[in-house]
Amino acid sequence: MAEEKTFYITTPIYYPSNKLHVGNSYTTVAADAIARFKRLTGYRVWFLTGTDEHGQKIQLQAEAAGKEPRAFVDEIVAWIKELWDELDIDYDDFIRTTETRHKEKVAKIFTRFYEQGDIYKDKYEGWYCTPCEAYWTERQLVDCKCPDCEREVELIAEEAYFFRMSKYAQRLIDHIEANPDFIQPPSRKNEMINNFLKPGLEDLCVSRTSFDWGIPVPFDQDHVIYVWLDALSNYITALGYGEKGSIYETFWPADVQLIGKDILRFHTIYWPIFLMALDQPLPKTVFGHGWLMLQEGKMSKSKENAIDPRVLADRYSSDALRYFLLREIPFGQDGIFSLENFITRINTDLANDLGNLVSRTLTMAERYFDGVLPEPSAADGNTDQELCSLALETPATVEAYTDQLKISDALSELWKLVKRSNKYIDENSPWDLAKDPDNEDRLGTIIYNLIESIRFIAVMLQPFMPRTPERIWVQLGISDDHELQQWSSLARWGAVKPGTVVSRGDDLFPRLNMQAEIREMQGDKPADKDTEGVAEEDMQEGLISLDQFQQVDLRVAEIVAVEKIPKADKLLKVEVVLGDSDKRQVVAGIAEHYQPDELVGKHVLFVSNLKPVKLRGVLSQGMLLAATAEGNRLALTTVDRDMPSGSRIS
Ligand code: MSP
Repeated sequence: MAEEKTFYITTPIYYPSNKLHVGNSYTTVAADAIARFKRLTGYRVWFLTGTDEHGQKIQLQAEAAGKEPRAFVDEIVAWIKELWDELDIDYDDFIRTTETRHKEKVAKIFTRFYEQGDIYKDKYEGWYCTPCEAYWTERQLVDCKCPDCEREVELIAEEAYFFRMSKYAQRLIDHIEANPDFIQPPSRKNEMINNFLKPGLEDLCVSRTSFDWGIPVPFDQDHVIYVWLDALSNYITALGYGEKGSIYETFWPADVQLIGKDILRFHTIYWPIFLMALDQPLPKTVFGHGWLMLQEGKMSKSKENAIDPRVLADRYSSDALRYFLLREIPFGQDGIFSLENFITRINTDLANDLGNLVSRTLTMAERYFDGVLPEPSAADGNTDQELCSLALETPATVEAYTDQLKISDALSELWKLVKRSNKYIDENSPWDLAKDPDNEDRLGTIIYNLIESIRFIAVMLQPFMPRTPERIWVQLGISDDHELQQWSSLARWGAVKPGTVVSRGDDLFPRLNMQAEIREMQGDKPADKDTEGVAEEDMQEGLISLDQFQQVDLRVAEIVAVEKIPKADKLLKVEVVLGDSDKRQVVAGIAEHYQPDELVGKHVLFVSNLKPVKLRGVLSQGMLLAATAEGNRLALTTVDRDMPSGSRIS
């Protein structure tokens, strides 16, 4: 019997200190896509996620909320589980570090370390960063702050247990050098070796006494086990480590442990050393992905600007959010999350490319063949061959990229097939062929090929966007044919049966109005559905909708400096400020009407979102509004009360 292929993948376990933001969801969505991909390609998969519930940070936050720590985390854990349901995270197990199955094993692990001499008791004096739950030496601090999160650290002096890290340091360096896949992407490996291992590993403090929300040290109840030792162990306790016949034997060592780059040190130094001390194999790959940032900086669960993934999934669908997260940022690098980027992806990749392909094809199948899939005839010309070859090659490329954890590249390969299929429509102009009944065979072949290509795309899409394929299969009339949804069905072109009844459904991803979305998501006035579309007769009469008017960003600008522009009699260069930090210059055609000096200090109406242009070689970044009348009369428009510069005009 062929040996079963197994695959174990983990995410970090999240602190249930607050609701998660879209950055945290990023890791879990990626892990889920990989897990689904491995299941689809025939692996027995175990996908673990969970929550890291002990420690000083949680205890303090619970106190601040006036709750017992357990009640405090229960609520957030319930929210996190709902989030994962909403994002279609199909985990096999969810571990909470407050569960008995975990606590008992961690206590045993700690005792074993102590008994075998890896842990000893001493006194800790040094710095502690509670948000990171990390110890730092004076030398490691940057400007007296935590080098990781740049927040305040606290000086602590406690009796504590220490783990002899140094004993294992050389073994770990050797392992990292001999196993290039162990730390991924490769750039992160040098950082660990040069910054932490080579300078010499200090023994790690692994217990605390100044609070009690943790797993007690079994033989010294004044101490609780350091939250990172507790948390890291989850990856094995959840599998039943230490229990005979548990799935630990099937799945450990992990194939991929996904984490954010900020917690690499814990996962590539402490974690492997704990495993070495337990005499267990190390994970095959620890992958430290980059950070999702906002344009204005870091995301944080406690910051107001954090973006709530549930709101995004509710509004735009979890598939769209998953697609964006997986496609937008090369996995491993940092990237920007902005609503503009997100909407652009939806409109281009999902609505224009994928959505249009499906709707155009199904419309033609209905129009030309009454929705009954025609029999294809022999391939005719290069375009058929190219489409079919690309479809047959794509699964292997997508698989190779996913295996290398290059998920964005995998999706971009898949989109090559989407785009090639759209191009195939344009190249063959079915609407022209349809004019002549003699072309029926050729037209039938084209429709057949498109349906088959869409089927290929839908099969490959499953791990990344779990809901969309089903919607496509319904349209293709194959939602009950599970064979045609399998990865193995992609080995052969032409598996979908002629005669299948297809039917066009709703658009998969309707195009969104960027301005309206931004306005609504930023909590401004909701888009007025009645005035969103401009009726044709209104356009003819020169009327615009409120929506169109609101696209103009009008502000109060204060004029702070004015200069003549050499050799331009009518123009002045005017410097204005809009609030404290926005300074602009504009070229205004008002030199015949105003002297530079009389303008300074005026508060005028200003169009602030005009594309910048150069006039007579001078940059102009907006427009001053003025009234004009016959007889070359002109007056700048101002506000009739004192208003701060930057005020919005609506
Ligand atoms: N509890 C620890 C992990 C213990 S694992 C044994 C922890 N929790 S966390 O909730 O603070 O962070 C969890 C994960 O979210 C980390 O991998 C972190 O890198 C990731 N992210 C936090 N903010 C992020 C972004 N803005 N972008 C991407 N990932 C981010 O650390």
